[in-house]
Formats: sequence, structure tokens, C-alpha cells
Amino acid sequence: MPTMLEVTGLNHRYGKGDGAHVAVRELSFSVDAGELACIVGPSGCGKSTLLRCIAGLIPPTGGSVRLHGDEVSGVPDDLAVVFQDYSRSLFPWLTVARNVEFPLRWRKLSKQERAERAQEALDAVGLSGVGKKFPWQLSGGMQQRVSIARALASKPALLIMDEPFASVDAQTRFELEDLLRRVQREQQSTILLVTHDIDESVYLGDRVLVLSKSPATIVADLAVDLPAERDQIATRESAKFVTLRGEVARLLQGGPAAPETAAETSDEATATADAAEWEATEEAAAETGDSAKEASH
Ligand SMILES: Nc1ncnc2c1ncn2[C@@H]1O[C@H](COP(=O)(O)OP(=O)(O)OP(=O)(O)O)[C@@H](O)[C@H]1O
Ligand SMILES: [Mg+2]
Repeated sequence: MPTMLEVTGLNHRYGKGDGAHVAVRELSFSVDAGELACIVGPSGCGKSTLLRCIAGLIPPTGGSVRLHGDEVSGVPDDLAVVFQDYSRSLFPWLTVARNVEFPLRWRKLSKQERAERAQEALDAVGLSGVGKKFPWQLSGGMQQRVSIARALASKPALLIMDEPFASVDAQTRFELEDLLRRVQREQQSTILLVTHDIDESVYLGDRVLVLSKSPATIVADLAVDLPAERDQIATRESAKFVTLRGEVARLLQGGPAAPETAAETSDEATATADAAEWEATEEAAAETGDSAKEASH
């Protein structure tokens, strides 16, 4: 598969002098066309900063980003972003269909073509009948589906998602994860998705890039060799899944990657305990760091 995204030696520093904060350091990786790559990293490590640089929303202080070979400087036309907070990303005064059509205004499409594209995207996310409703008449999970439909309607070369399922309940999250994998395979989309949920990164990804604590650097790039067809119960119970999530948890805690052979035979109970311990630390950090995080977004 050709390379869709190429990030080379990316650096980002906020501010200057004594008050400067290096958020991303010398980060390089690439994503092939049709791949779903997940990025997982500790809270505050620089994940959103990295995505903002890739999306051309902020110019990096060093390094380069190329999308299908073209240097990114400013938001590319064929890139779409889905943010965590659906309630702030949809326009409450526009109907669902108008929200989905909105980014297509800048495309050379007739009014009818725009409406057709929006309907196709709503069909793809299972929201065929709600085009005339307003976002606030839908549940949270449905609103996040609308955000996904809006991103898909523009048929982006790269879809960037920043913790897209963090604001919905666990059951809806599972449904949205399955929806994303299905749509990604049907449309052969290239997706870069950030999460701080270890299980989600392994369940969703064809690959998991593990980031270090701040400033973000890549500590591992793991291939997820699970079957393409995934199931919320069977996949999460499989030995391979448990091993992988344990490996990601170990890496996030600063431990070395398990050698390949050891990974295959590693003790499932240890892996599960490692992952659970990490998640407990993460939740505690999220609770205490919520206000700081809000300020940084
Ligand atoms: N606009 C900004 N100005 C100054 N510092 C910032 C800005 N945005 C983010 N930072 C800082 O850069 C670091 C990385 O922030 P970023 O939002 O990229 O982390 P993150 O990994 O996405 O965090 P989270 O998991 O909480 O979403 C943090 O220390 C943050 O305070
Ligand atoms: Mg973030």
C-alpha cells in the first residue's frame, strides 16, 4: 500500500525562553493508505498537539508532515478531524443533514450532490432517518455518529480522530468502535486515532503507536495481528488480545517491550493485571487533571 502520511522529525514547543514547553520531540512515523493506526499515550503527553500539527492546525516548530507526498502547511482540503466533544463540534442551529453537508460547501459540488453525499454518509453510520432533526434532539452517541458522518462525507484522504469515543458510555463506545472498523473497511479509509484507552487502541488498530510521557516520542510501533473481523467479547477475551494489551501497558509504564517469543507465551493474568493497574493510574490522573486538561484544549 502507498504511504498516505509521513511524519518526519516532528517537534513542537509551546512558548519561548524559560516558559517554553516541549510537547513533541523528534517524532517520526508513517501510515499506509487504508490503515487504521492508533496512537496511545499518557494524559498530557502531547497527543493532541501531535494531531494538531499533522492536521495543519498549528505549524510545528520543527520537522515535516507530508500527506500523499505533499507538505502540509495549513489544513489540507482532503483531511477531516473528529474531536472528542461532539456537543461542541456540531452546529446546534443546523439540522443534522446541514451539519454533515457543511464542509462540502467549499467543494465544487452541486446542491444535489452535497445532499446525496450527506445522505450516503448518514446511511453509512446507521442514521438514515434523522437528517431533518437537530443535533440536540439526538443522544450523545448519535451526535458522535453525526460527527463521523460529517468527516466521512468529504471522503478524506486522512481521517484524524482525537479521543472520539471518550465522552460516551461504555456500551455506546463499543458500538461506535465496531461502526468505525466496519466503515473503515468498507470505504478503505486511512485513519489516525488517538486514545488513552489501551484496550481501545488494540481492539481498533491495525497498528498501535505507543507514546512516552511528555514530551511525546514513539516508544513502540506494534502490529496488531488480530483477525480483521473483531468481536467485542470474543476478541477481548482472546489470548492474543490480552498479550497485546499487556505489552502496551508495560510500554506505557516505561518497561521494555516483551520479545516476540515471550509475548506469545506471556502469562495472561500478569498482562491483565498490568493493564488494569495502568488504567487505574490513568483514571486517577484524569480525575485530578481534568481542569488542567480543559485549559490546554
Ligand atoms: N496552547 C497551548 N499552549 C501551551 N501549552 C500547551 C498548549 N496546548 C497544550 N499545551 C501543553 O502541551 C502538553 C501536551 O498537551 P496535549 O493537549 O497535546 O496532550 P494530550 O496528550 O493530548 O493530553 P490529554 O490526554 O489530556 O488529551 C501539555 O503539557 C499541555 O499543557
Ligand atoms: Mg488530548
